[in-house]
Amino acid sequence: MSTGNGDAVRVTLRDFQERKERREKLVVVTAYDSLFGKLVDESGVDAVLVGDSVGNLLAGYDTTLPVTLDQMVYHARATRAGVKRALLIVDMPFLTYQVSPQRALLNCGRVMAEGGADAVKLEGASDSVLAAVRAVTGAGIPVMGHLGFTPQSVNTLGGTRVQARDDIGARKIVEDAKKLEAAGAFSIVLELVPAKVAANVTKAVRIPTIGIGAGAQCSGQVLVLHDLLGLNDGFNPKFLKRYASMAAEVRDAVSRFAEDVRDGNYPDDDHSF
Ligand code: KIV
Repeated sequence: MSTGNGDAVRVTLRDFQERKERREKLVVVTAYDSLFGKLVDESGVDAVLVGDSVGNLLAGYDTTLPVTLDQMVYHARATRAGVKRALLIVDMPFLTYQVSPQRALLNCGRVMAEGGADAVKLEGASDSVLAAVRAVTGAGIPVMGHLGFTPQSVNTLGGTRVQARDDIGARKIVEDAKKLEAAGAFSIVLELVPAKVAANVTKAVRIPTIGIGAGAQCSGQVLVLHDLLGLNDGFNPKFLKRYASMAAEVRDAVSRFAEDVRDGNYPDDDHSF
């Protein structure tokens, strides 16, 4: 489906909530710049997430921990330039929201005012994160939560692994989701969670859940654009379905260009002045 993104009606938080009530799936895809933001927006997704996965994908970091607030503001502003219709959600980086509710509010305010975000995403449901969610939503900034595997806690979670596999974990994630909802979150990402547990979370809260590696019963799904396009072909988690093989296409196109240059076939008369 191509909707174009020129003068389209903007997706709002109310649309998110109504979709859950009508059992219509929500679609979220990441983007980090204006060109891909525009292409993703034109594809008709409901939300574009400027994820701190930008650190892994564009900066080449091993984790999301080194990503800074300045980097997120830069990528948010660039993506905002291309996204006209979908809700633009921006990840708050490590330690920009846990230290104090005041710091969280100021930092989220920067992402909204300078980055042009419509909403921010915070990981976890510790007391400090819940206090941040209350402060930030209290100031009129919409917050998406993120439970299950939370990449900024990769070191305490013992690596990238499925969470909430046992009864205690399964009960805790439901409780955490309820706490996030009570604190004011409008939606929650569930990452690397057994499908049955994600279904229970989705039933336990009124707000929509957005799954990634969390089965089919979530209110919607999110994928990282570079993964779904097959640009990041060294990354092969079980949950990932690729819809293109762009890494191979990039290598092929660039090597054909190199061959043409080396053989003296480019530029030819058609491409010269
Ligand atoms: O940073 C990111 O891209 C994310 C998604 C995986 C949900 O948080």
